[in-house]
Amino acid sequence: MPSLLDPIDLPFRGPMPLLCPNRVFMAPLTRQRARTPGDVPGDLQAEHYAQRASFGLLISEATQISPEGKGYPNTPGIYSEEQVEGWRLVTERVHAAGGRIFLQLWHVGRVSHVVHQPGGQPPVAPVAVRSKGFVSMRHPDGRRERVEASMPRALATEEMPRVVADFAHAINCAKAAGFDGVEVHAANSYLINQFLSGSLNTRDDAWGGEIENRMRLLLHVVDVAGEAFSYSRVGVRLSPMGSANDLPAHHDDEELMRRVAEELGRRRLAYLHLFNHYWAKERWNGPFSASLCREMRERFAGPVVLNGYGADVTAAQADLDAGLGDAVAFGRLAISNPDLPERLAVKAELAAWDDTSFYGDDGRGYNDYPRMA
Ligand SMILES: Cc1cc2nc3c(=O)[nH]c(=O)nc-3n(C[C@H](O)[C@H](O)[C@H](O)COP(=O)(O)O)c2cc1C
Repeated sequence: MPSLLDPIDLPFRGPMPLLCPNRVFMAPLTRQRARTPGDVPGDLQAEHYAQRASFGLLISEATQISPEGKGYPNTPGIYSEEQVEGWRLVTERVHAAGGRIFLQLWHVGRVSHVVHQPGGQPPVAPVAVRSKGFVSMRHPDGRRERVEASMPRALATEEMPRVVADFAHAINCAKAAGFDGVEVHAANSYLINQFLSGSLNTRDDAWGGEIENRMRLLLHVVDVAGEAFSYSRVGVRLSPMGSANDLPAHHDDEELMRRVAEELGRRRLAYLHLFNHYWAKERWNGPFSASLCREMRERFAGPVVLNGYGADVTAAQADLDAGLGDAVAFGRLAISNPDLPERLAVKAELAAWDDTSFYGDDGRGYNDYPRMA
């Protein structure tokens, strides 16, 4: 069974694999430090990701594909010229340091607030049902506040090609900015997850109702990304059985996950990234069971990236040993250990993260975690 420190090709087979020197990936982490106006990344982010270039793969923070896709303050976008220039600084620094980086494509859907939306309009969703989840906003004095998500409006059938076109534009911007690939964010109850959900997406057009229809937006986005980058440079993130941001469970959730894994498997993607919300508390005995994970891995038949271990690296390695996945994305450990793969290689002590500086304005709590002595 592979060690976290063994190399891996993404995907396993195919004409254009990305060679990753280890299986310790950096999970996508929103840090809300993009420059405003314009939601532009720059030197601060370039320094942050370059410090972490020794990870097998870096997955960027969630990045809105359009102004409508935004739900939080100071998150970066990938649709304007200025943002492409900003991200180019990041990819150039990462590549110069020997790293590889995918961009996470994000549309929050109904998990937003009118203050983040163009023209103060309601956020969009598959149906006009409000999320009981919270989003954050910033006051002019810099103070952050958690507020209830706004009432969304349902996307009209005729608008769906425009939404897919927004993704296509962002994907082309990601390519222009020099990313090695993209990760489609279909997890954590944001737009694509909202469309997948049997409990929420009760639309009666071709984009809702049956599983086949609910998968349509995800598969369109994956196909557009596959065309721009090649499928071998596209990953997808799912949070099976997850209920973040008020997405209630549905009786066909397990079947949905099996079907999604199978459809994605046909496309021979770089990887399937599975975030288990329940790991921390219940490991594999929660709603996302080990047997469902194995079934998804079998149907996908490509590299599976596991996530959700906190600081428990031993459990992560044990799950690779048990054949549940092929690589592990670390989130909070990547915040506090810029050289995590090197530390694991020499069994060095791992630094603890400080959750009071997850979000901020500058390099404090961001670019000042030291490498090991
Ligand atoms: C500060 C913070 C920001 C996050 N931002 C994102 C994000 O942008 N996209 C995403 O898919 N998940 C995001 N997550 C979830 C993480 O990627 C990861 O799933 C979670 O931290 C569990 O992994 P860990 O136990 O290794 O930290 C975020 C988590 C944290 C703590």
